[in-house]
Amino acid sequence: MRGKASEPGGQKTLPVAKRVLELTVNGDRYEVAVEPWTSLAQVLRDELRLTGTKVGCNEGDCGACTVLVDGRSVSSCLYLAVEAEGRDVTTIEGLAETPDTLHPLQEAFIEHGGLQCGFCTGGMLMSSAFLLSHTPEPDEGEIRRGLSGNLCRCTGYNKIVESVDAAAKRLAADEGGTA
Ligand code: FES
Ligand code: FES
Repeated sequence: MRGKASEPGGQKTLPVAKRVLELTVNGDRYEVAVEPWTSLAQVLRDELRLTGTKVGCNEGDCGACTVLVDGRSVSSCLYLAVEAEGRDVTTIEGLAETPDTLHPLQEAFIEHGGLQCGFCTGGMLMSSAFLLSHTPEPDEGEIRRGLSGNLCRCTGYNKIVESVDAAAKRLAADEGGTA
């Protein structure tokens, strides 16, 4: 626990040395100095300015901070930055193939009204991307379960589920067309 620097009768807190990490985020290498308790979300937003990763609850409940680490979805508010060293981190900024294009999931969310304020959307998209990476053609129940850790306070979930379903079908059709 962090205490006050000096407090009558209390403990003195010694400064904790920061550690320099090498992180790979969206294919780019970064060096950042972090404290042992710094979350990955803090590094992404405050150091790398990748603010598409949102922090809603900061407790692992809302999913707004979801990113992929080595292809698996994690809540970056609970994931320590030091744990990400040597791993590949993907944020919403790196979901599409290039910065000038949209991922099929992003296109489907726009076309099917899967977002309103957008606060949850980055996390929804990253969880959806993880879902489709291991279940390319999910049924409705699988989509709902795949997004069960992501909360939306405005759109309602039906349009989000429709969006993921549409993206999955488009990706499957594209895959079939190129096979
Ligand atoms: S901000 Fe991380 S789960 Fe809510
Ligand atoms: S679109 Fe506003 S929180 Fe989901």
